[in-house]
Amino acid sequence: MTTQILGADGLQKAASILCQGGVVAMPTETVYGLAADALQPSAVDKIFAAKGRPNDNPLIVHISDMDMIFQVVMDFPDLAKQCAAVFWPGPLTLICPKHPHVPQNVTAGLATVAVRMPAHPLAQALIALTGPLAAPSANVSGKPSPVTAQDVMADMQGKIPLILDGGPCQIGLESTVLDMTCNPPRILRPGAVTAEMLQDVIGDVVVDDTVLSPLLPGHRVTSPGTKYLHYAPNAKLTLLEGPLCHEGAIARYDADMQKGLKSGILATHEDAPRYGDRLLLLLGDAAYSGLFSALRRSDDLHLDTLYAVVPKAQGIGLAARNRLLRAAAFDCIWEGNV
Ligand code: TXA
Ligand code: MG
Repeated sequence: MTTQILGADGLQKAASILCQGGVVAMPTETVYGLAADALQPSAVDKIFAAKGRPNDNPLIVHISDMDMIFQVVMDFPDLAKQCAAVFWPGPLTLICPKHPHVPQNVTAGLATVAVRMPAHPLAQALIALTGPLAAPSANVSGKPSPVTAQDVMADMQGKIPLILDGGPCQIGLESTVLDMTCNPPRILRPGAVTAEMLQDVIGDVVVDDTVLSPLLPGHRVTSPGTKYLHYAPNAKLTLLEGPLCHEGAIARYDADMQKGLKSGILATHEDAPRYGDRLLLLLGDAAYSGLFSALRRSDDLHLDTLYAVVPKAQGIGLAARNRLLRAAAFDCIWEGNV
C-alpha cells in the first residue's frame, strides 16, 4: 500500500476511506491520531493492526459536535458537562459510561468509553463528515506520539492509505484523560488541561498514582495504557532532579562522551544556555511542546545516552514529567543534598 500525504484538499478522500471502513491519520491540536469509524468494529481492528497495539488498551472516540455525544456515551454526568462547556473543543478526554452501540474493541471490553472533541479544524471537518472516530495516537505502539505528518509517515508508511497534513501539532502532548465515573474525578493521564485548571471548574480532582509511579505488581489498572512503557527512545534516558541536577546532567554527559558514547541532553529553551556547546535536544518553551520531536530526534541521531532534568509536577509540568518518567522507565536520580 502506498501512503499519501494530503492537506485540507484531502478531506473528502479521507472521509470516503473512513466510511468504507479504512484507516486514515488525522491532525489534532495534541498529537496526530490514527482514525477509523468508531461504530465499525472491523475498521477499528485495523487501527490495532497498524499500530501493533495490544487489544486490551482502549481507544479515544472523537466527536465534533455535542449532538454526537449520546451516540457514544450512555450518561454524560453534570461534572462532565461542566468540563465540556469550558474545555471542549480541546485537549481533554472524558471517561464516561459507554453506549451499547460502541463496539467492544474500541473500549477493550470496558463498560466505559473515552470521548474527546478535538480543536483542530481539519479533525473537526473530518468528523463532521464521518461521525464519531476512534483514534489513538498515530505512532507504532511504544514509539513517541507523532506531532507532524512526517512523524506519522515514519511509523505508518505502507500501512495506511492517507495522512491528512494539518501542520505541526500546537500542543505536542496527548490530551488529559479524566475519569468521570468516580468521585472525585480522577486524572489518569495529565495533559495541557491541567489539574489546577480542572479544579477551578469542578472542584476536587485527584491524580491517579500511576501518573508518577510505576504500576506495582498486584495493583489495579485504572487506565490500561499505564501498564505499558511508552515513548521509549532507543537511547538510555536518565532523569535528574535535586539542587545539583544540571551539574549532574553535565557530569554524566561528559563522562559518557569520554567513554566514546554518543550522548545528548533534553533541555528547555530556558535551561539551554547552562549546557554550553553540548548536544541539546530542545523540549520547547514552558509547555514542552517539543518533547516528542526531541525523543524522535534522539533516535535519528543514534544516541546511546540521554539526560534530562525532570520538570516539577505542577501545571503542564505534570504532563511532561509523566511522559519523561515513562520514557525513562522511571529511572530518576536525585542530585545533591536533600
Ligand atoms: O490527545 C490525545 O488524546 C490523542 C489524540 C489523537 O486525540 N489520542 C491519544 O490516544 O493519545 P491514545 O490511544 O494514544 O491514548 C488513550 C489513553 C490510553 O492510555 C488508554 O488506555 C486511555 O486513554 N483510555 C482509553 N479509554 C479508556 C477507558 N475507557 N478507561 C480508561 N482509560 C482509557
Ligand atoms: Mg498513544
